[in-house]
Amino acid sequence: MKLTRRQLVGGAGVAALSGAGIYELVDRLGSAPTRVVPAGVLPPEQHVLRGVRQVMREGVEVLVPPLHHQIVTAKLAVDPGAKSLQAAQAELEAALQRIESRYEVTPAGLGVTVAWGRPYFERHVGAVSSSYLPLDHRASAKKGKPVSALLDAIRFPSDPKETVLEANDVAVLIRSDSIEHIQDAAKELFERLDIFKVMSIRKGFAGGGFDGGQSLPKKMAVAAGLNGADLIPNDSELFLGFTSTQKAGLGPERIANLETLGYSDGGRDGYFRQGTAMHLSHIAEDLEAWYVNFDFAERAATAFRPGLKVKHGAQTVKQDAKDAVGVAENVRDYRREQRIGHSSSIQVASRLQEAVVGTDGTAYPKGTAIPQRADFNTLDNPFFWSANHERDGMKEGPSAGVHFVVFTPTSDDFHRGRLAMDGVMPDGTKLEFTPRARGQGFNSVLTTTHRQNFLVPPRRHRSFPLAELL
Ligand code: HEM
Repeated sequence: MKLTRRQLVGGAGVAALSGAGIYELVDRLGSAPTRVVPAGVLPPEQHVLRGVRQVMREGVEVLVPPLHHQIVTAKLAVDPGAKSLQAAQAELEAALQRIESRYEVTPAGLGVTVAWGRPYFERHVGAVSSSYLPLDHRASAKKGKPVSALLDAIRFPSDPKETVLEANDVAVLIRSDSIEHIQDAAKELFERLDIFKVMSIRKGFAGGGFDGGQSLPKKMAVAAGLNGADLIPNDSELFLGFTSTQKAGLGPERIANLETLGYSDGGRDGYFRQGTAMHLSHIAEDLEAWYVNFDFAERAATAFRPGLKVKHGAQTVKQDAKDAVGVAENVRDYRREQRIGHSSSIQVASRLQEAVVGTDGTAYPKGTAIPQRADFNTLDNPFFWSANHERDGMKEGPSAGVHFVVFTPTSDDFHRGRLAMDGVMPDGTKLEFTPRARGQGFNSVLTTTHRQNFLVPPRRHRSFPLAELL
């Protein structure tokens, strides 16, 4: 049964914010796992969730992501000038505090992360942003000139030239096990306030199969009649069949903060300390090509590392700190098989190459992961709703994809990892591939349609950062 656009969206414009369309199915199909709801103070970081459940899967510690996700990107609908910006700042902060008074910052409750794009800092608070925006000391040292911790997004070697580099003022990530909690927050921020001009709405899901039974990606793919849906393992966390949230592969609590690894000092007066950088992209996935053209062994080699012994049918493959590899191993794999693995190639940038004691006093051993991924599957094509159908290439019917969200200490840190995913190593070593060649990790079945980098201020400065200084 193929779904129409109307069934997919379930209503146009702002109604789409709380309208669920096909995503209604998620709530009927998926049951929220029981969770411990910790009381206590809010984390100073906006991107950190508390009470994240940990399970053992195939002998590996895995973190259970929230079931539902929604991202809204927007431009400001506020008159220029200090007064109106500060009034909007107060309104937004009050709305966020109302939401927090209703939900714990846990998957069972709700996580809201407000991230700001370069257009906001340049156009709306330009008078003060140049002296407050944080620098990336590592990238500045490498470039021999000041480099901001927030960079414009770029097209990577495996990106098609059509990849849209977006210029939104703000992006709001909303995560929860309950679709009602997400709808309530979306209403509070985008229907009850009139300070944003919504540019896109993106929805999705992850997991749901950790307690046995069919996962949400499987159920949604089958319900939407996606090609290849029947080939997805029944309880797989994501469409492509591998667990992607093993604990060792995700940065521990504060490591992705701007300041923890010393890449940045958080800007003037430490204004952005306990903040982080966020990358947002939409990636279309060719499910059929993945399951029909790649046998299991090649899928495992592509997702993790060529030559790695992986039990047939395994979904979760241990990638502990000591298993992490560097440039030399990737060069060897490339010479031997003209192939690099998704995890193994990225690990040259996503894992600490040596032990570090963070500015938070934590000792992080060599091989510790840095990025905190919050990506989730979607049926959006490419978005649930767009204010610019043509520019965003909106198409009819559901399509397999990922809304890729990752928190890293700086934008440059993300660029280093994403370039490594294409074979361009941080030390300049280049493993030559034709863009999206079969040997280039996942890339041959992925197509990135949209990208933008954002800065996520700490909770204390999340609403219209720097506006109070105008
Ligand atoms: C559809 C797209 C993608 C899928 C299905 C996917 C899936 C996965 C999987 C299965 C893993 C192994 C998980 C684990 O070891 O726990 C992984 C690891 C990772 N992925 Fe992706 N990924 C995708 C795109 C990306 C992109 C675009 C990036 C950007 C750089 C990325 C960054 C990472 C990182 C940093 C790791 C952890 C590597 C490590 O330190 O071990 N992924 N991904």
